[in-house]
Amino acid sequence: MSSSRRIAILASGAGSNMAAIAQACEQAVIPASIGLIISNVPNAGVLGRAKDLRLPHCCIDHRQFENREAFEDAMLLKLRGASIDFVVLAGFMRILTDCFIREYYGSLLNIHPSLLPKYPGLNTHQRALDAGDRETGATVHYVIPELDAGPTIVQGKVPILPEDDAESLAARVQVQEHAIYPQAVRWCLEKKVELRDGKVWKDPSFMDDGETRTGANANNGTRA
Ligand code: GRF
Repeated sequence: MSSSRRIAILASGAGSNMAAIAQACEQAVIPASIGLIISNVPNAGVLGRAKDLRLPHCCIDHRQFENREAFEDAMLLKLRGASIDFVVLAGFMRILTDCFIREYYGSLLNIHPSLLPKYPGLNTHQRALDAGDRETGATVHYVIPELDAGPTIVQGKVPILPEDDAESLAARVQVQEHAIYPQAVRWCLEKKVELRDGKVWKDPSFMDDGETRTGANANNGTRA
């Protein structure tokens, strides 16, 4: 489906969230098209998947740049060139500067593999296990300059089972990610959810059809 809204997805890993969002665009569940996929990792799985799906993609290797700003300038150039108006971070393992965030503020989402505000940062699944938590999950939030601290749009919860390790938990959480991330992008693009005065605003007519989901059956965030 073609749409005037154009999404970019920034990813560093396997790209399963990218694929879930791309599928939702393809099926017109999300009223937008994928305008560009950028990875900072030359051999990342996400680039192979983008190629297989015939989606526009490129690699911008952060190691080729002198500093964070120069790397981001290169990305911004590509994003502007592709007329991108909404940016989705899907396992993108670079911290973004205020300058980049300002450019897409309110149209910039991230997914984090924990029930924020619990466990911002790294090794979220192991930390949930070590703490003896009985549930964990994933959070989709607007991106603000403070890492993993932006206002929450939706969370997906999963139980932690006695036999779980970080890997099994990650896999179970990722199933939730693939459900809640396309949903959150859809809400934002339909303007049912907006970032207003630093808070999540929801359309008054917007009935909660799963702001917090629970499910059974991910990968850990490691942004540098
Ligand atoms: C996801 O689990 C996300 O929560 C974390 O990185 C992972 C990316 O996985 N930030 P994928 O590349 O989308 O498969």
